[in-house]
Amino acid sequence: MRPCVHVLFFVWLLTCPCGTHEQEEEEEEEYEYILEVPPEEDSDDRPSEDAKPSPRALLCPKDCKCTQEGVVDCAGVDLREFPIELPEFTNHLSLQNNQIEEIPPEDLTRLYRLETLNLQNNRLTSRGLSDDLFEQLENLSYLYLANNKLTLAPRFLPSSLISADFAANYITKLYGMTFGHKPHLRSVYLHNNKLTDAGLPEDIFNSSRNVEILILSSNFLKYVPKNLPPALNKLHLRNNKLEKIPVEAFSNLSDLRELYLQNNLLTNEGMSNETFGKLARLEYLDLSSNNLMHIPGGLPRNIVILHLEKNNIRSISKDVLTQIRNLEYLLLHNNKLRARGMHPDAFLGLKKLHTVHMYNNLLEKVPAGLPRRVKTLMLLHNQISSISKNDFATTYFLEDLNLSYNKIMSSTVHRDAFRKLRLLKTLEMSGNSLKSVPYGLPRNLEILKLKENDISSVPHDTLSGLSKLKELYLSNNKLKINSVYTGAWVELSSLQLLDLSGNLLSYVPPDLPESLEYLYLQSNKIVTISDNAFDSTPNIKRIFLRFNLLTPETVKESAFHGLEKLQVLDIESNLALPKVSKKKVVEKEKEEEEEEEEEEDRRR
Ligand SMILES: *[C@@H]1O[C@H](CO)[C@@H](O)[C@H](O)[C@H]1NC(C)=O
Ligand SMILES: *[C@@H]1O[C@H](CO)[C@@H](O)[C@H](O)[C@H]1NC(C)=O
Ligand SMILES: *[C@@H]1O[C@H](CO)[C@@H](O)[C@H](O)[C@H]1NC(C)=O
Ligand SMILES: *[C@@H]1O[C@H](CO)[C@@H](O)[C@H](O)[C@H]1NC(C)=O
Ligand SMILES: *[C@@H]1O[C@H](CO)[C@@H](O)[C@H](O)[C@H]1NC(C)=O
Repeated sequence: MRPCVHVLFFVWLLTCPCGTHEQEEEEEEEYEYILEVPPEEDSDDRPSEDAKPSPRALLCPKDCKCTQEGVVDCAGVDLREFPIELPEFTNHLSLQNNQIEEIPPEDLTRLYRLETLNLQNNRLTSRGLSDDLFEQLENLSYLYLANNKLTLAPRFLPSSLISADFAANYITKLYGMTFGHKPHLRSVYLHNNKLTDAGLPEDIFNSSRNVEILILSSNFLKYVPKNLPPALNKLHLRNNKLEKIPVEAFSNLSDLRELYLQNNLLTNEGMSNETFGKLARLEYLDLSSNNLMHIPGGLPRNIVILHLEKNNIRSISKDVLTQIRNLEYLLLHNNKLRARGMHPDAFLGLKKLHTVHMYNNLLEKVPAGLPRRVKTLMLLHNQISSISKNDFATTYFLEDLNLSYNKIMSSTVHRDAFRKLRLLKTLEMSGNSLKSVPYGLPRNLEILKLKENDISSVPHDTLSGLSKLKELYLSNNKLKINSVYTGAWVELSSLQLLDLSGNLLSYVPPDLPESLEYLYLQSNKIVTISDNAFDSTPNIKRIFLRFNLLTPETVKESAFHGLEKLQVLDIESNLALPKVSKKKVVEKEKEEEEEEEEEEDRRR
């Protein structure tokens, strides 16, 4: 590859100064190719040393890189002033990450062919930019001024503008001609400024009907700006002070796909059931972190993702959601929902709705009429105290159910409650008041979490048939060796992880399944490790035995012999450390590491 590049370069040097027009074009292509040489080749310097340089190449400010095509890169070279000796034909100028405070008008207007001007991350102030500074750059399309110290937007910008980034300044005011009369303008970034309603004239987008992206997040707006361009695709208004949305505010935005309104002061009184009605293409609506008491009516049917979390929503009426036929994600966590406030037909016909988050609410039971196609249902951190027979009778598609941190008791879980959940893979009921492992667990479970309950028994057959279970968490319960029915573990023929830490076990459970790789037994009352404790688990990789009652005498070292895959045996913080075992493991880990390294070497 490299020799070839050199040859090309050499050829170009020989032919360059005397070529015809046609040749020039070819050569330019070659030159582009040469530019791809890695920096250490130092190709930039060569023309001036080895051959007659083209006059253009001479004009390039110190520390900058210039190309024949008019690309000038002075990014991050600690410039304090706008560079003056720029080639006149510059059309792409990178000056980001410098310390420039002002731009003398004559220095910029000289660069009349500029198309891209990147001034991000400098120290430009509004005083340092004259009002019509940019207007004369008749081809300026991309103007990046983010991360400066501007307090006012430029009063005039050229009509050729396509994209303008003014984010992260201190802008309080825009003018009618800042973004008005720009037929090509597509995107405007104004987030993280200090704009108030008074700083936005009503005509900011006069004759700029093609703006597709308008980002106004993190300002101080109380109202949605008027006369928004009808081509808008994305409108971001999060983190403002919006209290009200005028009825007509979005009425012309039939192309809008993404609307961010989160983190404002919106109330239901501040909007009507027609506010969103015309947004026929809206797919993403975020109304989270506002002051809504209920779900606004009239939401358009094509919404796919609806964020309503972190409001004060207390109820869901019959017909606020059902028309959103394309809804897939409904996020309602951190509200004040009660099951009795939710109409049983609230989700009727929402066939695409597969993810519902209702955690951190006040649900006293599982809401009736759950969407039939729901796959992921997050009900954790509520007040649910029972699971009745029909709570999940119609949610055949459920794969992931989280009921952790509720008030569920063993006596209130119906034995047939989960019978229809043939596809359920993950069931979490940690942090409840279960006294035993529930009956009727779905057969295809892969992960079962029952941490932090009061479980003191694993009744006969509760784990039978869970042949796909890979991970079982029973930590921080009250299990003893004899509270688990005989043969419970060995039936779990796919089990890889068993967490029994924080229980009352007095020795390592017998009959662990052969598939087991991770065994957590720390913080129990284990007094002895017998010879054959791990006979049934030849695949074990990690064993945790910290905080038990073991002594060197009661740990039979031979128990760990033959465990070829063992990587970690954590047995510290017992009554006394069995020294030999520890050392052995350290050595073993070392060996493992070396082996891994070797393997990597081999792969290289
Ligand atoms: C602006 O762009 C157009 C179209 O590419 C071109 O014809 C014209 O010469 C450019 N003007 C300047 C001043 O470079
Ligand atoms: C915008 O349009 C309105 C109504 O047509 C007009 O009164 C106003 O002067 C225009 N402003 C600009 C900056 O074009
Ligand atoms: C919507 O468009 C119509 C016709 O262009 C215009 O009269 C009206 O003011 C626009 N409404 C808003 C809120 O921009
Ligand atoms: C909006 O609400 C009003 C009164 O509350 C009702 O008459 C009207 O039918 C509703 N419109 C829609 C589109 O839901
Ligand atoms: C279920 O809830 C618990 C408790 O907050 C959490 O740790 C866990 O990640 C949740 N599960 C899923 C799949 O989100």
